[in-house]
Amino acid sequence: MTSSQPYLTGHYTPVADEITVTGLTVDGSLPPELSGRLLRNGHNPQPGVTPAHWFKGSGMVHGIRLRDGRAEWYRNRWVHTPALDGAPYMTPHGPDLTVSTAGTHVIEHAGRLLALCEANLPFELTRTLDTVGAYDFHGKLRTAMTAHPKEDPVTGELHFFASSPFPPFLTYHVADAKGEIVHSAEVPGATAALKHDFAVTRHHVVFVEGNVTFDPTDRSGIPYRWSDRQQARIGILPRGADGARLVRWFSIEPGNMPHIANAYEDGQGRVVLEGPAVDREGFRLSWNWWTGAPGRGAEPASRSYTRRWIVNPVAGSVDEQIIDDLPVEFPTLNGNRLGSEHRYQYAVSFPDEEGYGGYGVVKYDRTTGARRIHQAGDARMPGEAVYVPAAGATREDDGYLLTVVSDLKQDASQLLVLDASGLDRIATVHLPRRVPAGVHGSWIPDDGTTDDQN
Ligand SMILES: [Fe+2]
Repeated sequence: MTSSQPYLTGHYTPVADEITVTGLTVDGSLPPELSGRLLRNGHNPQPGVTPAHWFKGSGMVHGIRLRDGRAEWYRNRWVHTPALDGAPYMTPHGPDLTVSTAGTHVIEHAGRLLALCEANLPFELTRTLDTVGAYDFHGKLRTAMTAHPKEDPVTGELHFFASSPFPPFLTYHVADAKGEIVHSAEVPGATAALKHDFAVTRHHVVFVEGNVTFDPTDRSGIPYRWSDRQQARIGILPRGADGARLVRWFSIEPGNMPHIANAYEDGQGRVVLEGPAVDREGFRLSWNWWTGAPGRGAEPASRSYTRRWIVNPVAGSVDEQIIDDLPVEFPTLNGNRLGSEHRYQYAVSFPDEEGYGGYGVVKYDRTTGARRIHQAGDARMPGEAVYVPAAGATREDDGYLLTVVSDLKQDASQLLVLDASGLDRIATVHLPRRVPAGVHGSWIPDDGTTDDQN
């Protein structure tokens, strides 16, 4: 293992320190309604540290503060967890859920900022990205927490789950709009399959188990491996207190489905979900890249194509198809459509395994079938495009896409603000340093509290 590990080079080269810079240069016109912070998490090992797996790199959150048409500051902070100091995850008493990279996502719920990694408890951050500590919902969360919780736009509830390689394999939790856990239930019939993301519809919770499952013989640093014997499945349970025991599992085609763009019930009572998926070979290429193994692809998601599953609970059947030929990952949408039928879906495009195509921000119109791409440009890689609704928006795509671009030629980064309607660039915020390619993030709008002062 050397520093030539793919996840420590090029766009992914970590930064060596924490900085704060105020008064950023802006080209174009920042919409004054964008008052808040864009936060972006990712794996950024400390200098001299070479993790065995990309996912094991310590989490670092990059933040950009916008207000009144200005970009007031940029700062980056490691999430200061026991893992950052080298503490072991496995102890004689089992896993220590506070030993987290906390490097996968950062969200806000009920006024609390949480940095997330799926094998651990969340870590609370301040508005200026200092680490408060592990957060267990006042003692009510005794499992890990997925890095992809879903905030219901209607109820304000936060739905999330814990996936474990050991029984109980799957636990479903709901926190109310005030951040109190009001429901926790084990989901019967789940297996040790990797479960990274899930979906919530108006009436159901949807889990996805692919072919990647726990394998203690794996030595990659994260003990999971593709298994042809593992049956890929979708599990659907009604929302509500008794829902978990009513779960139904539906077999689907083999694959690994890291992210779900959205799910909803259609007019016929079927559950429709979409997201990027890889087949066996695509997973091999990704995993080899993530572990620095030989035979890796040029990029981690080069064979990741969007699939649609339509589950008919009455017939007990699933219609499944690949709906686009562009390799994409990091699907996003207008969060107000989460759980309901959506028209527009966004993603990041990747070069394919031969290196054709390029990085870009993609918009799908699911009504017309149109696909539009904002090309990132030579040696430029955009991150996940976070959707922010415009003030007083009436159309689903009346809003903005915020993406942080890594620019290798300039050894720099910018925050791009795109018009979500046409993908035109509205403003560019020049960041004071290159921000390594990372994982997920969120827009945290000002909420009218004293937290807004910073
Ligand atoms: Fe993810």
